[in-house]
Amino acid sequence: MTQRAGSIRKAVIPVAGLGTRFVPATKAVPKELLPVVDRPAIEYIVEEAVRAGCTDVLMVTGRGKGAIEDHFDQAPELQGALEAKGDDQRAGRVGRSSELGRDVHFVRQGEALGLGHAVLRGRAHVGDEPFAVLLGDDMIDEEDRLLERMLQVQTERGGSVVALMEVPPEHADRYGCAEATPLGEDLVQVTGLVEKPAPEEAPSNLAVIGRYVLHPRIFEELERTQPGKGGEIQLTDAMLALANADGDGAGVTGVVFRGRRYDTGDRLEYLKAVVQLGERHPELGEDFRAWLQDRVPARGPA
Ligand code: G1P
Repeated sequence: MTQRAGSIRKAVIPVAGLGTRFVPATKAVPKELLPVVDRPAIEYIVEEAVRAGCTDVLMVTGRGKGAIEDHFDQAPELQGALEAKGDDQRAGRVGRSSELGRDVHFVRQGEALGLGHAVLRGRAHVGDEPFAVLLGDDMIDEEDRLLERMLQVQTERGGSVVALMEVPPEHADRYGCAEATPLGEDLVQVTGLVEKPAPEEAPSNLAVIGRYVLHPRIFEELERTQPGKGGEIQLTDAMLALANADGDGAGVTGVVFRGRRYDTGDRLEYLKAVVQLGERHPELGEDFRAWLQDRVPARGPA
């Protein structure tokens, strides 16, 4: 069954991860709230979902993540104080996250049993319709409209859609890796998926990055998915079952992304994200670029 274009409204954002790659910064602060220039990483992700037409966002949270809920709540004291000072610009920035928060819902994962388990926790909220999944560690540059493309592909082809990106072969063990046959310019038919293979066992250098548009049939698969890599219930394994299934909701299409992605859960990549987005920041960019130019005179254009 195909839906009208633009009819996918729901997005699930798992945010229960511990942020172990970024300790001690993430000891008391959820990794999703680390600032990328002046906004927490998670705000970019929610903006991306909303920009793509997802008006209903479910976050799957865990213990120690309460500050994420606060970020998307109303903040009348802070906003009132800024307004009283006549600082409408900053009051507006505070108001933006509260505005986004009106359509953000929360459910707890309870036990950290893996990404597949986190997505399954969204079942009651999502119901029987295709939905997007955005992983909070993966920031996609807002100029590169990946999610919109994936939603379009799901509407046209049905089944599920996963974002793939070419990675250096030695990095295969950081990702889910796809076996795929070409379909068109940026599309492939996914025929196999393996979670974090040893580089010599990777079926290709096409890695799963954190954007998915899933058919609701994924929930049935997740229910019967046994713990896999790392003893966790892997979304990758449930998607593999759909890739090899028949009938309504079967099949997985890969969209090969060639734009800019920042893994903000990794310290080096995080630094790169801050620099790249800092250079383009409407208020800070000009001064920041001048400072960078001064420090690193031999570097090329931004
Ligand atoms: C998860 C997925 C993996 C995917 C990756 C993308 O892994 O399990 O298949 O390639 O996200 O960032 P994680 O990074 O949560 O271990």
